[in-house]
Amino acid sequence: MCRAASGWLSARPSQIFLALQNAGLGTARRVVNPTDVRTASGGLSAQAPADFSGTADGGSYHLPVFPAEIATWMDTAPGRFIIDGTLGGGGHSEVFLKAGATVLGIDRDPEALAHARARLAGFGDRFSTWEGNFSGLQEIPGIRHGGRADGLLLDLGVSSRQLDSAVRGFSFMRDGPLDMRMGPSSPHTAAEVVNQWAEADLVRILFEFGEEPKARRIASAIIKQRAVRNFETTLELADCIEKAVGRHGRTHPATRAFQAIRMAVNEELESLAAALAAVPSVLKPGARLLVITFHSLEDRMVKRFLRHRSTPFSDDPGWPEPRPNPDFQFQLLARKAITPTAEEISLNPRARSAKLRVARLLDPKP
Ligand SMILES: C[S@@+](CC[C@H](N)C(=O)[O-])C[C@H]1O[C@@H](n2cnc3c(N)ncnc32)[C@H](O)[C@@H]1O
Repeated sequence: MCRAASGWLSARPSQIFLALQNAGLGTARRVVNPTDVRTASGGLSAQAPADFSGTADGGSYHLPVFPAEIATWMDTAPGRFIIDGTLGGGGHSEVFLKAGATVLGIDRDPEALAHARARLAGFGDRFSTWEGNFSGLQEIPGIRHGGRADGLLLDLGVSSRQLDSAVRGFSFMRDGPLDMRMGPSSPHTAAEVVNQWAEADLVRILFEFGEEPKARRIASAIIKQRAVRNFETTLELADCIEKAVGRHGRTHPATRAFQAIRMAVNEELESLAAALAAVPSVLKPGARLLVITFHSLEDRMVKRFLRHRSTPFSDDPGWPEPRPNPDFQFQLLARKAITPTAEEISLNPRARSAKLRVARLLDPKP
């Protein structure tokens, strides 16, 4: 699965993440032989973060979106237990910790976990972490043993740090290996998707996940180019897409395709669906669910889930009268998605497409 020829992806997947972690903090749980993660091109080692302690204030790692709204809607207080399912740089977790809560931070990315652990070390044992996919909420040891949380936050997608790090391969603006995994648990690399998947599957993900109208043309160009030579870098792929569809307007023509490939690599929609299904079994009655989405597919999934589960009765033209909805479990705390203020967008342009949905788990039916 890892390409060795160019050296970009010659390290085994989990070693790349551990190497990123080791490179900065020196506090990793396991020391990796540096030769395991060296690449022939030098790409990985040259671009791995030199020192995470420099970003430990979180300032340059990731600016959290909706900080004030998250603090208000989570209704955090001393003694409450909050799960931050997308820890990232730890900005939202810090808000909860400062309000006195106990926080469990989850992330698939060991580098994010290491960064947040260093940043939030001052909160002592009120802060802990779990490495894994939030689709596995029920596997968290405390939850498996009957613990329930007072709140869950999912702030979906990738962090600015992941996006801006060329070596992670998320960006069509920076040359890096075709990787795009959020962490070692992600099932594919972008190189596998682009070089090995059938044309029909490429068309499907470009249409479905990227909502890319030129999906067929892009997939066909990828197939033609990879027949000559496999794709190795982000810029090779971005150039191929640009040649296939041309450049119109200000948005880079590879934007939607990169989003689609990232979502396929990390099985993002599948993870979200699994996490939403698990929510009622990890939260206490009265607990809050807050979800921040960045594109319409995710938002639609959250909106439909919450709409269905917050409707006490279902109706159908064929029924004599509405029937109680057996899935009725939530109360919507805001009927519509909350969107960022103009001020937040000017401070944090990444917030532009963010939507926040908030709900409360109801008491179980008697
Ligand atoms: C937008 S960032 C979160 C930023 C964070 N709220 C903060 O204040 O810094 C999303 C983070 O969630 C992680 N992530 C995304 N999907 C995940 C999943 N299915 N399971 C676990 N972590 C995930 C990413 O690795 C990334 O670090």
